[in-house]
Amino acid sequence: MAIAPYPAGRFRRTRRTEALRRLVRESTLSADDLIWPVFVREGKDDETPIPAMPGVARLTVDRLVKAAREAVDMGIPAICLFPYVDSALKTELCEEAWNPDNLSNRATRTLKEAVPEIAVMTDVALDPYNVNGHDGIVRDGEILNDESVDALVRMATAQAESGADILGPSDMMDGRIGAMRQALEAAGHQGTCILSYSAKYASAFYGPFRDAVGASGLLVGDKKTYQLDFGNSDEALRLIERDLSEGADMVMVKPGLPYLDICRRASDAFGAPVFAYQVSGEYAMIKAAAENGWIDGDRIMMESLSAFKRAGCAGILTYFAMDVARALAR
Ligand code: PBG
Repeated sequence: MAIAPYPAGRFRRTRRTEALRRLVRESTLSADDLIWPVFVREGKDDETPIPAMPGVARLTVDRLVKAAREAVDMGIPAICLFPYVDSALKTELCEEAWNPDNLSNRATRTLKEAVPEIAVMTDVALDPYNVNGHDGIVRDGEILNDESVDALVRMATAQAESGADILGPSDMMDGRIGAMRQALEAAGHQGTCILSYSAKYASAFYGPFRDAVGASGLLVGDKKTYQLDFGNSDEALRLIERDLSEGADMVMVKPGLPYLDICRRASDAFGAPVFAYQVSGEYAMIKAAAENGWIDGDRIMMESLSAFKRAGCAGILTYFAMDVARALAR
């Protein structure tokens, strides 16, 4: 790297005006980078606010359609659905997960028909359908890997059948990407993308989300036997490599900001698109501090999301998606 010694070299020259700063900026955020996670519920023309996530609500499918239309108008390319599942439908074997007419699949079909331009991403994990709140099938206190993979493959196939453009396996079972990819190819869904949550950590930052999907009261124990230990980063790289080799098109690092080192390492190591999930707890912290007047929420939103681009991410799942798109449009 060539750096002229001072005073020939003065870094402040290119910072002098906004025009110069824009000119030399290395990474920028655009609406193209955003995937908007949205909670869906049953009912008509209604929504339920989520207390720990100010500005976020569970939407009925008709309201979801309106929201998706607005997202497209703001230039957001993708929306990610998380269903709030009636507790009466939760079972030990999670059969509702692959019901072709479950809430998530109905929402996907409706959305693809009403707003075909938006890419619909769906979540592949059993937790919304599980009496135990776990992402896999539980027997005698153990989260079973291979039985869970079979269930996840059924679930993924039903989602692809409903028209989902991107499947997001967030379950962290071993071998699920290969099994899903094989099933998708066999069923004629060659075009369905898999964005694997390859590096998903066992994190306390998911708290508000579990409330939002109605899973927090149910969870027995924790998710440490399948989600990554937060002391590890080499293991995250091995998981990403494994999932890419099994047929994932894109990979996810989750949570976001506390795991920026993983984003950078992953984007350096593989040519594949790496996404970050700025999760519910991250969103809640920014919102709470902003509502108290302790920080400038809008500026922190832009700064924290720009960090993902700087770390090499192709895009970000964020509850701020619509706010960001609006701010960028101004
Ligand atoms: C579960 C799932 C979780 C999130 C997305 N999918 C929570 C968990 O693993 O317990 C968290 C998202 C967020 O916190 O915003 N399959």
